[in-house]
Amino acid sequence: MDIESIRHQFPILAEGGIIYFDNAATSLMPRQVAEAMMESDLYYRANVGRGLSRHTKRTTGVFEEGREKVADFLGAEPREIVFVRNTTEAINIIACGLPWKKGDRVVTTLAEHHSNLLPWQVTAKRNGLKLEYVIPDLNDLGDLEPYNKALESKPRLVSMVYVSNVLGVRLPVAEVVRMAKERGTLTMVDAAQAAPHFPINVKELGVDYLAISAHKMYGPTGIGALYISKDAPQPQPLLVGGGMVTDVMLDGFRVAETPTGFEAGTQPIAAVAGFARAVDFIGEVGFDNIEKRCKHLTGEFDHKIRSYDRLRVFGAEGTDKRLGIFAFHIADLGVHRVASLYDQFGNIVLRSGHHCAIPLHQEVLGVERGTVRASMAFYNTVEEIDKFMEVTERILELVGDA
Ligand code: ALA
Repeated sequence: MDIESIRHQFPILAEGGIIYFDNAATSLMPRQVAEAMMESDLYYRANVGRGLSRHTKRTTGVFEEGREKVADFLGAEPREIVFVRNTTEAINIIACGLPWKKGDRVVTTLAEHHSNLLPWQVTAKRNGLKLEYVIPDLNDLGDLEPYNKALESKPRLVSMVYVSNVLGVRLPVAEVVRMAKERGTLTMVDAAQAAPHFPINVKELGVDYLAISAHKMYGPTGIGALYISKDAPQPQPLLVGGGMVTDVMLDGFRVAETPTGFEAGTQPIAAVAGFARAVDFIGEVGFDNIEKRCKHLTGEFDHKIRSYDRLRVFGAEGTDKRLGIFAFHIADLGVHRVASLYDQFGNIVLRSGHHCAIPLHQEVLGVERGTVRASMAFYNTVEEIDKFMEVTERILELVGDA
């Protein structure tokens, strides 16, 4: 893989100057994704699924091809792929839309992003459900005992993150889904951070619902996908209105089948074109290359960052269970101050705070003030990591520990 020519496809990287280590927040976008969106708006613009002209049909065809590509990316059937705004919306659809019974139990973990906590808290309150949290063992992520215990009493649903957006660790999703299925428990997976890093096959996983966001995988913001297995209970739609019905009477309506029933209103057509192009881009680079490169970068970063005494890295050591996301503290400096210093000294883009995961910080990591986070993508380089370490040393000098 010629990384320089790939970096050239990203104008922000090609221009140089910035070290972009905030890929867990959103990845950068290659030129061809932006071009696909522009082409859609300039040459294919019509409202999809609404009209019989050849032009409209062509646009609808391009839109549905996008669905086929995303379905293929996840190993799903196109009819199982609903376009949503993001992972958050996807999880809300499942949490708000399933037919709950008072007393049903839902299990999630304390490694979750708020998007996989708040919808369950709301739906639990509304429907009288019991919400339980598994506390994952961060030193032994393969330890299935906490999940086993939570699944013993056959909860209605378990919803968990595939890769933590704070620690970059990979949770034992395949094993938990298998254990849940054996007990008749439904499964939902937040795969937002996993999708850019390794292949996902929903059929092999056997998961019922799974969500991804395009903007974490070199695609546009405002578009994502919710996989709803054709064999799983189909939720009620969250939004109702145009384009999602087969009939409307004065006293009600009939909801169209999945995915149409979940896509009320005019769809983000250009964003779908961009999403499809991002999926093509990942296919062109190849997950083999992405995984190999990320492992190398993760190893370099892990090894180098752990050599500083006054720097504390959270989460598992090594590259086996971690994917290029590092949360850390430098001495007792405030996290926003640290991120600003990296920006000021090295034009390095990081995120600081709780990364939408307050319970993970407070209950699992035991830190109130949040963390600083560096998150890499395959297009980052060892030179960028070295520059990051130089800036780290400058900051450490500042706090009196060179
Ligand atoms: N979920 C994104 C992050 O972790 C926004 O930063």
